[in-house]
Amino acid sequence: MVADRVRAGLEAIIGVSHVFPAPDGPRLNIRPGSTEEVSRCLQFLNAQAVPVVPLGGLTGLVGGTDLFGAVVGLSTERLNRIKTLDPLRNLLTVEAGVKLEQIHAYASENGFRYGVDFGARGSCSIGGNIATNAGGNAVLRFGMTRANVAGLEVVLADGRVLSDTGGLAKNNTGYDLKQLFIGSEGTLGIITQAVLKLSRPSADTASVLLAISSLDHALGIMGALEKGCGQALLSLEIMWNRYFRTVSRAIAKGAARPISDIHPFYILAQAEGDGDRVRAQDILLEALEDVDGIVDSALADTRAGQNAFWAIRDGSEVIENSHPRVLSFDVSMRPQDYATYVGKVEERLARDVPHAVPYNFGHLSDGNVHFMIGHDGTVAEADHRIEDCVYETLSDYWPTSVSAEHGIGREKAGQLWRSRSAEEIAVMHALRVTLDPAGTLNPHVQYRAGPAASGSGVTATDA
Ligand code: LAC
Ligand code: ZN
Repeated sequence: MVADRVRAGLEAIIGVSHVFPAPDGPRLNIRPGSTEEVSRCLQFLNAQAVPVVPLGGLTGLVGGTDLFGAVVGLSTERLNRIKTLDPLRNLLTVEAGVKLEQIHAYASENGFRYGVDFGARGSCSIGGNIATNAGGNAVLRFGMTRANVAGLEVVLADGRVLSDTGGLAKNNTGYDLKQLFIGSEGTLGIITQAVLKLSRPSADTASVLLAISSLDHALGIMGALEKGCGQALLSLEIMWNRYFRTVSRAIAKGAARPISDIHPFYILAQAEGDGDRVRAQDILLEALEDVDGIVDSALADTRAGQNAFWAIRDGSEVIENSHPRVLSFDVSMRPQDYATYVGKVEERLARDVPHAVPYNFGHLSDGNVHFMIGHDGTVAEADHRIEDCVYETLSDYWPTSVSAEHGIGREKAGQLWRSRSAEEIAVMHALRVTLDPAGTLNPHVQYRAGPAASGSGVTATDA
């Protein structure tokens, strides 16, 4: 249990109504309403050596916000103000708890756009996006979250506030400290405010859904789209048949679907127009003119038409609910290794865990594949055997990452050594000890230097 005196101390800082026991455990949740309150809470908790786990929209996929034991969950939900828009510098300053979808809507109402986007937009918060360096559907054009942040305000474990919210395009005065916190998963500090880079959207966009018969054609199509569209290309995604079929059927609920679901692979690309001169759909059509391997296609340039395509790509929740147990993977490699790697994983899976059902999709242009692998949860050891199929096969390639965009959290900690050297992990530890010597920030996220003894990536340490 979090001790009564800790609770009383927190209540004195932020008020009784913002400190409440979590429904299902010995922990306390708190909802500070300002940077100053976050700072005072952290200073107090640090002095008492009570662990703190920052909570955003809880849409993460690696267990980074799982709570164990007597910890305090610090929710950013009351830090929900959109603060200022600087239309000359294209900068938007927001508090950490603002939802990604709200940022898109606000940017759009004001003639701008924010480049990072993905399926969890309605629930995830910008603070969590930044803490995990979220990727998504338009990394090809805008980069990961890291590339879209111009400034940050962070509260350190002991309550000190690091504020770099000026958003200068140029500022080479020593280390760019904000980058340290982007992707640090709440282990180095708690993000309270961010300055985001916006850009001007084009007049129109179009999306094309292509069915292809073999993965061998994917790279040719990717090359043609990148060459033909150039900067106009916003997204280039891929779905395997079982993913496409399952999600599109579930979403359509019997209504017409955009394209037949009998083909082995689907590529979904989106481009934007070139102002009034060239329309987005013409850019896509021209780029694809002489391309081999397309067996069926659908084009949309209305918002509703495009949304129907993208709802399939963003509909992985359907898979989540299709089996008693679903494991989620997020690996990356060079796009040229994609086809053989995924083929080998599927082969090995069919041999070693024949009752497991893989649904594959991903961000083709980033060499990033997501496997969601469902099973009935009855076969002991199935999780470990599935993990081996994915990660041991990955180790035959270089360069690769065991977590392309979802982070390490608890679930991938046992695999970190496959992607980071012992020296890199030692430096991660050194930074952590420097910024949080008492070890109170998100202690369940552990950057481990070797495989876990159990073979599992998960350890439920009780704080
Ligand atoms: C996606 C998430 C799972 O790409 O990363 O939909
Ligand atoms: Zn993804």
